[in-house]
Amino acid sequence: MSGGPKILRKWAGGVALATAVAALSQVGGRQADASAALAEVKPLPDHQMGPAGITARHPGSRGPTAPTPRAGRPAPAPARGAAPRAIDCRKVQCVALTFDDGPIPGTAKLLDILKAHQARATFFLIGQQVAKYPEMVRREVAEGHQIGNHTWDHSDLSKLSDAALESQLSWTQDALKKASGVTPVLVRPPYGSTNTRVAAMARKYKLAQLTWAVDPLDWKDHDSAMVERRVVDGTQRDYIILMHDIQPTTVDAVPKILDQLAAKGYSFVTVSELFGAAPLVPGELYTKFPGTAQGLP
Ligand code: NI
Repeated sequence: MSGGPKILRKWAGGVALATAVAALSQVGGRQADASAALAEVKPLPDHQMGPAGITARHPGSRGPTAPTPRAGRPAPAPARGAAPRAIDCRKVQCVALTFDDGPIPGTAKLLDILKAHQARATFFLIGQQVAKYPEMVRREVAEGHQIGNHTWDHSDLSKLSDAALESQLSWTQDALKKASGVTPVLVRPPYGSTNTRVAAMARKYKLAQLTWAVDPLDWKDHDSAMVERRVVDGTQRDYIILMHDIQPTTVDAVPKILDQLAAKGYSFVTVSELFGAAPLVPGELYTKFPGTAQGLP
């Protein structure tokens, strides 16, 4: 990613816990400098590789393979989401924690932690993982979390043909709807890589594009204390924070992150709760909520 028109930004000023060079090293082969803190950067690649165990492939003419229901066992009912909360992030100090690349069986541990802290989060999910672990998606929804589209196989959407790009979004929308009964309204392009074609396709599927304001580089540095410090130090009001529930070291960091941010007065909300009554416009790209803290309506 070399910046420029490839990246659409709704709001500038995303802050991450590494230099842009550190992130760009993942795609550009340049040297990383992860020691730099709080640099103004372009949206960062969220990680170097796809989720563990996922072989990247571009969708062809085949659609996603639906799980075959076992004989005599009816398909489970759609998840019934937890009651929506009346939370106004113009009055409350909010942060939206987001977790990418699941679901995996280990997501259950994170859900236990979030429940114990009464924290809600947003999960950006990989379609082919959703097809493997639909019950985890149902649990996410049932426990009040938000789910979003993170493509079928973690492809770089900006590099795909229009047909392949559409498959990545539509297959994943279908898998998430089938698993949970919920049709997502959010997409996170893998690596934060987007362009006008991706934006147009997101708009077609009524998906707002969500990247992040803080990337603790948890996909690269498997160190719970480091991830904890980067998230806690980098978080500001109304920010969207990127993490990965497929990294056990990240899940291990979450209890301390929640404790410390709660002590600073933060409430943990979903992306849609963060935006509240403000419309998330399909196709637009967001890194944070431009709320009271930023002096915007
Ligand atoms: Ni990802």
